[in-house]
Amino acid sequence: MTLLFTLDAARAAIFAEAVARTLPDQRVAIGRDGCDPGEVRYLMTWTLPEDIARFTRLEALFCIGAGVDQMNLDRLPPGLKVVRMVEEGIVRMMQEYATLGVLALHRDLPGYLAQQAAATWRARPVRQAAQRRVGVLGLGALGQAVLERLAPFGFPLAGWSRSPREIPGVACHHGREGLAAFLAGTDILVCLLPLTAETRGFLGADLFAALPAGAGLVHAGRGAQLDAAALIAALDAGHLAGAVIDVTEPEPLPAGHPLWRHPKVLLTPHVASVTQAETAALTLVENLRRLAAGRDPIGLVDRARGY
Ligand code: NDP
Ligand code: OXD
Repeated sequence: MTLLFTLDAARAAIFAEAVARTLPDQRVAIGRDGCDPGEVRYLMTWTLPEDIARFTRLEALFCIGAGVDQMNLDRLPPGLKVVRMVEEGIVRMMQEYATLGVLALHRDLPGYLAQQAAATWRARPVRQAAQRRVGVLGLGALGQAVLERLAPFGFPLAGWSRSPREIPGVACHHGREGLAAFLAGTDILVCLLPLTAETRGFLGADLFAALPAGAGLVHAGRGAQLDAAALIAALDAGHLAGAVIDVTEPEPLPAGHPLWRHPKVLLTPHVASVTQAETAALTLVENLRRLAAGRDPIGLVDRARGY
């Protein structure tokens, strides 16, 4: 029974080498050529193959990324284990990106970029970190790691999740009933939520109105969570001061979309964080061992919740 990688060849080779080195009995295939889907026990991929129904003996589907919203999980047998990526490299890169975004808004980088374009040498008002409250939507693997990385700067920190969480040094809120207080106390909002039916369109006009005047947004979750028109309206009205946006709907963002040239928006093309094959291979090997021992893999998706 085979472990099949349908990834770019360079990354697949790194995973395959790690598996061959540590689990020499595990048969491995890179790419579909010559691989019988009926012989595949484990599949690592970003999207579902069109003919996923032919993978009749599949026991676990490993997603190369942290989010699984790009896969229609309804096409899979109910008991099939879906495993999202939780690994050191993707966590570290998201820590970097979120820190970059928070500091850019905290120190008014969009304002200084506009001044540079106009050759204006002028200091803009600055707040101290202790007066800038940072709130993270999503307290999972990435949200928690980002909060940990932000802590030394001295920002008052808060977070919001679906179920109750306790994180030292972080004011934790949860559920719809905890949302208003969380938003009212957040000057820079970082979105690290998975895309589900509940979070689609979540970053909209009502949410922006619930943030204090002058707040900023760092969005690295999924594009479909953001109502871009509502964001632009809140920025143009002066209610929001700036936004750092990594994910859009659709991707790539079409030429001419107002986000491209908005003076208060810093835009990146879905690069906040990327799975690093060298470190992710360690997670994969650990997960293969866990599955062989009848244990749950790291990053097991709750199919009912969708993340
Ligand atoms: P996790 O599954 O570990 O964490 C998700 C968090 O979101 C949990 O705290 C969960 O709450 C919370 N959550 C989910 N739904 C809701 C809801 N309806 N209301 C409140 N809280 C909710 O995911 P990760 O941290 O690993 O990743 C988060 C997302 O980041 C990914 O799904 C992906 O979309 C995005 N991402 C973006 C990348 C980029 O480059 N831009 C790269 C990698 C990931 P609870 O704790 O109660 O379960
Ligand atoms: C991911 C991503 O989910 O790259 O891993 O967005």
